[in-house]
Amino acid sequence: MVKLNSNFGKLTSSYLFPQIEKKVSDLKARSPSSEIINLGIGDITKPLPEPIVKAIVDAILELENDVSKARYGPSIGFSFLRKAIAKNDYLDLGIDENDIFISNGAKCDIANIQELFDTDSIVAICDPTYPVYVDSNVIAGRTGFYQDGKYQKIVYLPCEEKNNFFPKIPDVPVDLIYLCSPNNPTGTALPYDELKKWVDYAIQNKAVIIFDGAYEAFINTKNTPHSIYEIEGAKKCAIEIRSFSKKAGFTGLRCSYTVVPHELKVQNTSIRECWVRRCETKFGGVPYPIQMGALATYSDKGKQSIDTIISEYVDQMKTLTSGLKSIGWKFYGGVDAPYVWVKAPSSSWEFFDELLTKAKIISIPGAGFGSYGEGYIRLSAFAPKEHIETALNRLSGIYTCATQ
Ligand code: MLT
Repeated sequence: MVKLNSNFGKLTSSYLFPQIEKKVSDLKARSPSSEIINLGIGDITKPLPEPIVKAIVDAILELENDVSKARYGPSIGFSFLRKAIAKNDYLDLGIDENDIFISNGAKCDIANIQELFDTDSIVAICDPTYPVYVDSNVIAGRTGFYQDGKYQKIVYLPCEEKNNFFPKIPDVPVDLIYLCSPNNPTGTALPYDELKKWVDYAIQNKAVIIFDGAYEAFINTKNTPHSIYEIEGAKKCAIEIRSFSKKAGFTGLRCSYTVVPHELKVQNTSIRECWVRRCETKFGGVPYPIQMGALATYSDKGKQSIDTIISEYVDQMKTLTSGLKSIGWKFYGGVDAPYVWVKAPSSSWEFFDELLTKAKIISIPGAGFGSYGEGYIRLSAFAPKEHIETALNRLSGIYTCATQ
């Protein structure tokens, strides 16, 4: 008799974002005329820029006459896109096209990359953080059961107000370290010195860092590394994952890339070679038109359109943070990331429910990102500016400085 992967039974509840969707759809069913404002999931709200649309359409038209473009492409991505990424995003960092792998979204690679490592590896994960790091390791059997807000065997790295939300080096040895900078959900980016501590630790302890840079395009603070490879030695110990989703409007189109430097070796084995093998076995590659769209993000017109979009999101962030300040709410982030990490006056799910029912605003409860997220909610600045303004008007009508 076939048996279920028993690790599924360890997962605590359904994935965070569908839980929220369910609460929102229940509210809509109860109160269909409610105008609900979504400051929850970090999904894009601006249309795909014209140079990117054109590149995709042109690529689709090529399919009519050129069967080679419709055939199986390389699982690791077309060389034209890998070269453009190396040239534009990693110039002077010693990363070449052979170290770059095109994928159908950072989420998939973040969930899959752990397959390269032994199931006995000790995993260190920031708390709070993007839930995929924890859940993928639970499913892979690298954890024990969930008890008192934690999975046994995971080494949690608390990111708290008192340490500027920067994770501290653990006092027990760890093998695989997940870092996200700018961090989802706290919105804080790791400065050079903080990131260097992790690279030094990984080199000394023969650990590997999975560096999630999905929000890199939103970094504004000077001297904040955009890539972990800005730190000396990182090519020997780190894998970096980036995405076209939030930067260029690809959340639904699906295109991202993972950097596995050829210098990275575990037990004298090239991790890059293992990832090639894994991609060739398990992945069919990203469609040609989508990769052509991604390539267009590096054209002059593509770059200009992306700069415009990012500066509009930054402007929305400023509207959100100045509005929150004026109602006296305490919050963090919102400078190097499209997320604001807001202190809640009650538990994070209670405050989430209160905002949803009283103000018809969707947020994300901090506890959904880990136990150290309790007492916070996350607000996203991806929503259109007028929605953010309406949300702020509603909040200032309901809350006063006295609430926090
Ligand atoms: C988020 O809101 O945290 C992200 O949109 C989730 C994701 O990128 O999968």
